[in-house]
Amino acid sequence: MPRTIVITGGTNGIGKALARHHTERGDQVVAVGSSEEGERRLREAAPQARFIRSDLSSLRQTRDLAERLNAEHPVIDALVLAAFRFNSARVETEEGFEHTFALYVLNRWLMAEGLRDSLENAPTPVIINLCGAGQGGRIHWDDLQLKNSYRAITATMQGAKASELLGAAYASGRTKYVLYNPVFVATGLHESFKQPLRGLVRVTSAVFAQPVAKALPPITALIDQPPSEPLTTWKKGKPIDLAVDRNEARRLTEAIRALAP
Ligand SMILES: NC(=O)c1ccc[n+]([C@@H]2O[C@H](COP(=O)([O-])OP(=O)(O)OC[C@H]3O[C@@H](n4cnc5c(N)ncnc54)[C@H](OP(=O)(O)O)[C@@H]3O)[C@@H](O)[C@H]2O)c1
Repeated sequence: MPRTIVITGGTNGIGKALARHHTERGDQVVAVGSSEEGERRLREAAPQARFIRSDLSSLRQTRDLAERLNAEHPVIDALVLAAFRFNSARVETEEGFEHTFALYVLNRWLMAEGLRDSLENAPTPVIINLCGAGQGGRIHWDDLQLKNSYRAITATMQGAKASELLGAAYASGRTKYVLYNPVFVATGLHESFKQPLRGLVRVTSAVFAQPVAKALPPITALIDQPPSEPLTTWKKGKPIDLAVDRNEARRLTEAIRALAP
């Protein structure tokens, strides 16, 4: 039976490949991205997919998107969280958040919470959070917005750790939460970098990273048959044990609720 799959960051890399795979299988795919270029890429790869343009680093646009999706798709079988941008220098959003924190943390929390009811209406609902789970990131509790100590890798690792905590905090109801770390896949990741680093990352990833086509099957398998446990963590197709501190998970959701009431 065709299913409805919402993919944030569905216009490039792994998200776009998932959009193509699932539309070709007859599923209804809604792919979200922020750019015209992304829309063009999606049209080429997966013409049957529906595109919605939204800047997901904006809380306001994320909430509008969730409201629209719930109204138009009261049953959502899978939510894939794949929107990401690597920011070499610290960027602040119009709403005053550090950009990586807004896109990697706040957006993923709001999307999962905002689509909760539509997901619960599906027979076997699943959230796939594509992230750097299990890489040992940490939350900078004294400086969540990294005002004093911004480094791109610090922001990225904090976002990855936040995904682990948000997965643990979410895990309830029928919707299964999957933290999936693809590790190193040749995608549009290099596009976030400025030259000359951009060229270097592109070449390195062409040589060492897994092609998207190879990275895809374990992810689609989890969408097709979600695990029975409420929260699972996977690294390159293999399940891993991940100890998550429930108190820290609670602390993060409380901090997010205070920042994004
Ligand atoms: N590739 C890897 O090696 C790797 C490793 C570990 C984890 N991951 C995770 O896997 C996921 C997918 O990675 P990828 O490498 O496939 O990504 P990618 O090719 O860089 O694509 C990123 C996607 O995010 C969208 N996006 C970026 N900023 C956005 C915004 N403000 N609002 C809406 N959409 C936005 C982009 O669309 P627009 O350009 O249209 O905005 C694009 O569709 C990410 O969450 C990443 O953290 C990837």
